[in-house]
Amino acid sequence: MTENEPPRISTGVTGLDEMLGGGMPDNSILLVCGGSGVGKTIFTLQYMMAATDRREPCVYVSLEESMKKKIKNALAFGWDVSQVCEKGLVEYLDLFMVPHSQGVVEPVDRVRGKLQFSIDHEIEMLVKKINAKHIILDPLTSILVHEQRSGKKRFLIGKLFESIRNLGCSAVITTEGMPKENDFYMEMFLADGVVLLGKDIKDYKLTKTIRIDKMRGIDFDDQPRRYAITSRGFQVFSKEPVLI
Ligand SMILES: Nc1ncnc2c1ncn2[C@@H]1O[C@H](COP(=O)(O)OP(=O)(O)O)[C@@H](O)[C@H]1O
Ligand SMILES: [Mg+2]
Repeated sequence: MTENEPPRISTGVTGLDEMLGGGMPDNSILLVCGGSGVGKTIFTLQYMMAATDRREPCVYVSLEESMKKKIKNALAFGWDVSQVCEKGLVEYLDLFMVPHSQGVVEPVDRVRGKLQFSIDHEIEMLVKKINAKHIILDPLTSILVHEQRSGKKRFLIGKLFESIRNLGCSAVITTEGMPKENDFYMEMFLADGVVLLGKDIKDYKLTKTIRIDKMRGIDFDDQPRRYAITSRGFQVFSKEPVLI
């Protein structure tokens, strides 16, 4: 690492840290994209638990899947999310989006009901409450899916990302679906880093691959690598070529 290089933080996944040459740059927004069941949610939990191991507080924003379900699933990997919450290392927002007529969508808290303010504002309050260093949001798609107007979409993403940057946090944000060539995913342009998770089937054999599409400010391994999800969580085989 040269003097001008930004300090790195671990993604919680050793093989991915190796692909990044030591982790992601501090204060960056990493987008994790992929179809259903590729392990995006598990990745977010692993990132969060690694941060809490370093005693760095996190704010986790859960959309669609309830926090209760995620906390239960996390136990299978030996991650005790309730315990890190009790220790004051994690605060979470447990939300779902309710669509109304005329394309208006409202965030609703599973416990408190309709939000009085915006998601950005709620995140800011929680970050300040525990002096969080990380914001995790899973999935961003849930906030954007009802918004057809591309200008409004860009505004929503831009506003969220700017508030994350202003808070001085690093972030991991998931999006559902794999962008195809010529697809225009605004969040990919606005994020600092993009990691793509994919599944390929050849000769009836499934291979899961991870690829870093971009990461601002650093040099990284741009080749696809194989990954697996085991009882130890998300594991990337950074030293092996992908054999399909
Ligand atoms: N306890 C576990 N042990 C091993 N693999 C698991 C376990 N729980 C889930 N998985 C794997 O993780 C996948 C789901 O991961 P998840 O993070 O929920 O995906 P996504 O959020 O991308 O839809 C499952 O399809 C399964 O392959
Ligand atoms: Mg998920």
